[in-house]
Amino acid sequence: MKLWGGRFRKETDSLVNDFNSSIQFDCRLYREDIEGSIAHATMLADCGIISGEDKDQIIAGLKSILADVEAGKIEFTSDNEDIHMNVESLLTERIGPAGKRLHTARSRNDQIAVDLRLYLRREIDEIIRQILDLQQAILEQARQHQNTVMPGYTHLQRAQPISFAQHLLAYGAQLSRDVTRLADCKKRMNICPLGSGALAGTTYPINRWQTAKLLGFDAPCSNSLDGVSDRDYALELLSDLSILMMHLSRFAEEVILWCSWEFKFIELDDAYSTGSSIMPQKKNPDVAELVRGKTGRVYGHLMGLLTAMKGLPLAYNKDMQEDKEPVFDAVDTVKMCLPVFTGMIGTMRVLPQNMRRAAGGGFINATDCADYLAKKGMPFRDAYTTVGNLVYYCTENGKLLEELSLEELQNISPLFGEDVYEALSLETCMGQRKSYGGPAVEETSRQISELDQFIQEYRAKAASAIGGHREEVQA
Ligand code: ARG
Repeated sequence: MKLWGGRFRKETDSLVNDFNSSIQFDCRLYREDIEGSIAHATMLADCGIISGEDKDQIIAGLKSILADVEAGKIEFTSDNEDIHMNVESLLTERIGPAGKRLHTARSRNDQIAVDLRLYLRREIDEIIRQILDLQQAILEQARQHQNTVMPGYTHLQRAQPISFAQHLLAYGAQLSRDVTRLADCKKRMNICPLGSGALAGTTYPINRWQTAKLLGFDAPCSNSLDGVSDRDYALELLSDLSILMMHLSRFAEEVILWCSWEFKFIELDDAYSTGSSIMPQKKNPDVAELVRGKTGRVYGHLMGLLTAMKGLPLAYNKDMQEDKEPVFDAVDTVKMCLPVFTGMIGTMRVLPQNMRRAAGGGFINATDCADYLAKKGMPFRDAYTTVGNLVYYCTENGKLLEELSLEELQNISPLFGEDVYEALSLETCMGQRKSYGGPAVEETSRQISELDQFIQEYRAKAASAIGGHREEVQA
């Protein structure tokens, strides 16, 4: 008979049984479910709601279940619907009547809300660690390429010269925002719904501050209805993961372009490329393509859960069981993408000569040519038009700006002097862009040390987060 079978006189239809049960996917919450129950039992005893003896039996029983699950000795069953009822049934099987007291003053509604927060909180720490590893790989490549000139693009048209370090550090900055966004999400997630009961709290004299503290939460949530209805933390995490994947996808797209024959700015390591079953010459950037592809999947989970939640009246509705698979899959996907992306970036071979060659065409020093005239006194807008005419002249005559003779240049403006050639060299154009945040070595050095500090700071935070959360439950 079901744990809730009392008011029923018929067995559940077997299709309904399968349809209704969530154990196939919420079984991964076994550890959090047991942790929550241990805290709950401890509090019940401390508040005099169950005896100390019952509490001891409950905790010993829960720990033995945890050990057995971890040893692969337990088969959960869909007859017990979800992880909460599976654990409770096992407990009662093992310790008898005391097991039946565990569910005093709580409901599966507050149980699932607490389990999911505990689980996602841990996953956030892990994802942050993985992002920091990727930032480290970016940092190491950037350190080696502060003087590697490449074309910077707008509209995918060559625009102005930058360094490869500058380009990579832009991704480093995006990822720093991902880290702080996730840390912020975790802060808001770290509020405890346990004790909300089914929706309306309880008449027992429970101590919600105690369970919150035992589980490493900052506080209990202040409204019991909200406690069981809220899935903002899951949505917030899915949003953060979507933005993170968007960043990885843009980076992936560039990696794919860069290793094409048309660009050949980089060569991926053999260990991070794949071949073709028919074309013997092929070396494909499958890793980058898959990351780009999996981004759609994470976005989809965000839209799926937003849509599932949008019409729900307060408080718990079974629709909310649909939160788990998308969140789990998004977390799994991100955790798969990050380390392989890090390996791909860390091992890619950069081809500075090809970048330099590409930077040589496309008139990417045209802005600098206009700046040259403006610094000699011509209003910038006039200088802009003058250089536009020069570029036209060059394209008609198959020349680059720096290939024009001084005579040709002076025909257009007498302000041109011998020093223009130095001003037009790409090394000058890149190296003189010393404005704050620019590609000059002085500035990429500053960005590199900032990123380095950021990584160290958050690595320390991630390390203390593990220690800072309550003692991990030991089986
Ligand atoms: N398996 C359920 C879920 O994931 C747990 C909460 C069930 N509560 C209920 N009243 N049926 O949402």
